[in-house]
Amino acid sequence: MLQHTQGSFGEDVDSWKTLMFIYSSALKEVNTKLEILNDEFKHVHQYNPIEYIKSRVKSPESIVKKLKRHGYESSITNMIEHVNDIAGIRIVCSFTSDIYRMAEMIGKQNDLTIVSVKDYIKHPKKSGYKSYHMLVTIPIFMSDRVADTKVEIQIRTMAMDFWASLEHKIYYKFEGNAPGYISRDLRECSGIVSMLDAKMLSLNEAILKAKREQEEQP
Ligand code: GTP
Ligand code: MG
Repeated sequence: MLQHTQGSFGEDVDSWKTLMFIYSSALKEVNTKLEILNDEFKHVHQYNPIEYIKSRVKSPESIVKKLKRHGYESSITNMIEHVNDIAGIRIVCSFTSDIYRMAEMIGKQNDLTIVSVKDYIKHPKKSGYKSYHMLVTIPIFMSDRVADTKVEIQIRTMAMDFWASLEHKIYYKFEGNAPGYISRDLRECSGIVSMLDAKMLSLNEAILKAKREQEEQP
């Protein structure tokens, strides 16, 4: 018989471990899908829409903190129900257009269910935060059951990622109470990020066009 020890969730460690196993399996599945999409895209269009992918399973401390912040007790049921980003994947692309291409390709995967989409690129947050978020579920096949598992996918450009990681650090340094001028400067930087992304995109289009014209010359 399995030994059941009490974990920090007041439930047995065995079910906690199983749950974490399911979430990390979900990350593996989605990661493989993204790699295949990237490879296929490269095969057809001769370039990678994805610069890099980062993924992580949320730490127990962060899960407990988030539940508390939202006013829920720490239990396995509450974390499954209310914490959507236990399995999280971040896709970093070169250009804004790649973000929408990726989102569309992800949306077309029959075995993924799109639970919700938040477009913080078209509608940035007050902080200046920009990214495209998709909450999906993927079925994880085990020996005796299938578990539909939530994965939060964040898609952004390298410039957006640069902004978000600095903003995240500052936010934590000030525990959410950054001086007004810092928040203002960050919002201003977010505007610069958008300008840079737009400029890089049009530059890339110009490069492709010039290249085509060169090739057409006898
Ligand atoms: P939580 O913010 O995680 O409680 O979830 P939510 O339901 O509000 O979802 P939302 O889409 O707003 O945020 C999900 C994730 O996006 C966060 O966990 C962060 O990784 C990221 N994020 C959202 N807003 C910001 C922001 O203002 N700055 C930074 N750096 N990241 C953000
Ligand atoms: Mg939030």
